[in-house]
Amino acid sequence: MSVDWLELEKVATNWVYEAGHKIKKTLAGPIDIESKSNPDDLVTEVDRAIEAFFYEKIQEAFPEHYFLGEEGISDEEPSLDGTVWIIDPIDGTMNFIHQKQNFAISVAVYHNKVGMIGLIYDVMRDELFHAHRGKGAFLNGAELPPVKERPLHESVIGLNARWIVEQTNPYRNPLKALVRDVRSIRSYGSAALEMAYVASDRLDGYLSVQLSPWDYAAGMIILNEVGCVASNFQGDPLSLTDSGTLFASKPHLHKEIISIYIGEEY
Ligand code: IPD
Ligand code: CA
Ligand code: CA
Repeated sequence: MSVDWLELEKVATNWVYEAGHKIKKTLAGPIDIESKSNPDDLVTEVDRAIEAFFYEKIQEAFPEHYFLGEEGISDEEPSLDGTVWIIDPIDGTMNFIHQKQNFAISVAVYHNKVGMIGLIYDVMRDELFHAHRGKGAFLNGAELPPVKERPLHESVIGLNARWIVEQTNPYRNPLKALVRDVRSIRSYGSAALEMAYVASDRLDGYLSVQLSPWDYAAGMIILNEVGCVASNFQGDPLSLTDSGTLFASKPHLHKEIISIYIGEEY
């Protein structure tokens, strides 16, 4: 069945705003928190409820579409052939819990592995970064211009400081060298927002040693519309099914950082 992408974008945007409203309401009361893979890997009842909200809406409106969400609300095996929604209900759960800000809803729609619609919503700042393949990327409806390059030594890069102290991280030394050479480093604690910040020129690049498709699926679509590049550390395309390294940046900087710092495979 053919998809009306403009209509789908409208519907998805409404759901994102509705989900943002629901999240805001939960901030007034106590929130149930649990750990997942380790004591610092947190999930709340709100993450699960928001993912369920999207799943139910999508099932009802687009029963033939597949669904991949971080919290595993759907137990169906998603297929990349056809239309799949890739959703992180709250990206930056630790910020959501500790700061009650600096988190985002990330929604991506792919069709036969091609990114069509990307939405990243910073709920507390009411900033919606959105893109429609071939039609540009926007912040609250204002088109984002194609990004301007800066030399490496004037670049501000997003990076979690833990990656440069973690003894077991093979990229520790290359990342240390990069940290020394760029103008400065920022850590916002939401991969989706950090990718949106690269697209909107608040950052020049963003790197992570370990991310999953729901962290970057929407960001990739937004970045693509402003001429930025997202890949793994070797410059290869990102997987929509497996976790791995991620490097998003302006195109010239992307080549430079891969060739001088992080491109070697470990
Ligand atoms: C996390 C955030 C964080 C990144 C982690 C992600 P979550 O997502 O994006 O910035 O460093 O690797 O897992 O768990 O808050 O959805
Ligand atoms: Ca995430
Ligand atoms: Ca999440």
